[in-house]
Order: sequence, then C-alpha cells, then structure tokens
Amino acid sequence: MKTINRRSWIKSSLFTLGGIVVAPSIPSLASGKSGFASKSVLSEVLSASPFNESRMLARLNANENPYGPSPKVIQAISESISMGNRYGHRDAFTLIEMIAEKEGVSPEHIMLGPGSSDLLEKIAFVRFMEGGNVVSADPSYMSLIQTAQAMGATWKPVLLTPDHSHDLDAMASAVDGETKLVYVCNPNNPTGSITNSSELKDFCKTVSTKVPVFVDEAYLEFLDNPESHSMVGLVSKGHDVIVARTFSKIHGMAGLRIGYIVAQPDRIKSITTKVRSTMGLCVTSLKGAIASMKDQEFLKNCRTLNAASREFVSREITSLGYDIIPSYTSFMIFPIAMDGPKFLKAMNEKGVGIRVFNIHDKPWCRVSMGTMEEMEIFVDSFKTVTT
Ligand SMILES: Cc1ncc(COP(=O)(O)O)c(C=O)c1O
Repeated sequence: MKTINRRSWIKSSLFTLGGIVVAPSIPSLASGKSGFASKSVLSEVLSASPFNESRMLARLNANENPYGPSPKVIQAISESISMGNRYGHRDAFTLIEMIAEKEGVSPEHIMLGPGSSDLLEKIAFVRFMEGGNVVSADPSYMSLIQTAQAMGATWKPVLLTPDHSHDLDAMASAVDGETKLVYVCNPNNPTGSITNSSELKDFCKTVSTKVPVFVDEAYLEFLDNPESHSMVGLVSKGHDVIVARTFSKIHGMAGLRIGYIVAQPDRIKSITTKVRSTMGLCVTSLKGAIASMKDQEFLKNCRTLNAASREFVSREITSLGYDIIPSYTSFMIFPIAMDGPKFLKAMNEKGVGIRVFNIHDKPWCRVSMGTMEEMEIFVDSFKTVTT
C-alpha cells in the first residue's frame, strides 16, 4: 500500500482550507473604488510550512475559540459516550426544537449539519445542479461559492464599499435571470467588517422575491446585540432567506462539528429529499450542542474575552502604524509592510499561527483572537519579526 506522506498531506489540506477563505483582490480597500470585481481569480493564501501544532504557542490561524467547549459541554459529551451505539435522531430533534424556539420558527424551518460548511455546500449542490450564477461580495468567505463553481456556476463578485460593507445596490443590480442564489457573509470573513442590518434587511426583502438570499452569520454572536443584526426574523415572516449559524465559533465547538440553517421548509426539503439530514451527526456533538445552548453564561464570557483581546491587538498594532479594518468578529485583518511568505515563516518560527493573504498583490495578516496571553505573544512576535 502506498504510504501517504503526512507532511505533504497536511500541507495540501492547509492550502485547501486556506483557499476557501478569501476571494480575489480587494481594490476597494486600497483605492476606495466599488462595483464589480475586475477579476475572479482567488488570491493566494500563503502557507509557508505545515504548522507543527505541538510547537505552536499561539494558534491564531483558523478563527477558533480558545475558551471552548464549555465545561458543561464536556460533561454532557462525557456522559453521552456510552450511548455511541445508538443513532442520534432523538437528540437531533431535541436540538432542532431548541433552535426553533430560540429563532422563533417551527422545527420544519431548521436543518442541522456537521458544521455550517456542510450546509453551505449542500445548498450549493442543490441550487447549482443546472449551473447559473452566484452573486456575493468580494472578498468574502468562499466555501459556498467554490462548491457552486465546481457545480458549473459562474461567480459574480461585487467589491465591498470603501467602508468594507457589502455594496448592496451593486449586488442587487448583479442579480440577473441566471442567478440562483445571493450569498452574504455578515459579519464578513476575511474582513471582519459588518453591513448595516436595516439596509441588509431591506436588501433581503427585495432580492429574495427573485432569488433566495443566503446570509452566513457564523460570527454574529460576537456582536453585543446579535439578535438585532440577524436576518433570521425574515425567515419567520416568510421571506426566502436562508440563515446559517455554527457552534464552531462562540460556542467553541469547531472540532465537534455542528451547525444549522434556518430557511423556508421548502428550501430545507429541496435538500432533504436528496440527502439525509441528521444521519451525518454524531450523538456526542448533539448532546454537547444542547448543553452549550443552555450555557448562556459561557457564551457571554467568550464574547467579553474576545472583545478584550480584539481591543488589545487593535491598540497595539495601530500604535505601530498599521491600518486595521475595524473588526466585529473573532479575528482581524490588516495590510503588512513585509514580504508575505517571509512574514508567515518568521511568525511560524516564533510559534505563532496566523494567515497571510495576498490580496490585490499586497500581503495582509489575518489574526484570530486567542487568549490575552496568546495575543501578547502575537504582538511581541509581530514586533520582532517586522522590525
Ligand atoms: C464565514 C464562515 N462561515 C462558515 C464557516 C464554517 O464553519 P463550520 O463549518 O465550522 O461551521 C466559517 C469557518 O471559519 C466561516 O468563517
């Protein structure tokens, strides 16, 4: 049997992982221009070498939550391991009922998945089976768009506005007879920026009369008042809007793989008539998600700690003369004044995992918010490496 070279396997996985994160150029960030993106070539996500996780002092490359999972989740999971001989359908339904109550919709409006990535991809599979096009911001999170492209769809990227919001007017104008879905990531990855919620609501109401609007709210819960920014209320009012959420971020359960969408029951059925929904879910993760939803104190704490790390890094990096895009998420991005691969390699050698994007031919550093101790390591290493 051919042995897989572990280093090259990890390396190629990292490239794939990184590749879905960022879209092409962000000339709007540099030039203040907005409108359609001129090219649709993915900008490079640089990965100097596979990370040696055991040597990593600060793991700040994948927007993970350093505080999770909550002790109550760990307890629930430990207690559920002995039930591993049973399918998790009952627990899936319990979780669906809890989510439905929280979001003010019926259980038929909810679909669970092993992470929201799974649901982003499934929506892309069913919507783009016959091609068409997908409209989204540029740059944005590329998972759904890449699957759509793999299905034969065309991507219609629309540059962010100079203040890094979605250019909603330009996105609405980009919708044509071939558009099968509009994807909005709010707050947006990789920019960490937010789009005004009342303007986004108006956009969703209008555009969803023509095509479904998919709103990815993976980082919503890091906002102080998440409900007021969510588009989920539009689903309960009958609009053709699909909202995605994940337990990977504020709940600190990225490796446990649970996410969900809230959508019109017909949209959910368009997937579940083709693939099964709860079959891909692990009983331990379901029990963990149920426990996490009940642990509001933990979530609140994560939000506070994340904001403190964000303020610290923002202050420190800004004082060094760098322009950080104001972040509403658990990561932030800023342009660096050093060769991208060299910077990445030097940071990795210091034991700091970050992402470097080559955006519009300029290197940008995206750093996830870790513990305060990790952020201090990041700032110290950054100063050493860049001076
Ligand atoms: C905007 C956005 N959406 C979705 C995901 C997918 O998360 P998961 O599959 O872990 O739920 C991520 C992960 O980083 C993300 O940044």
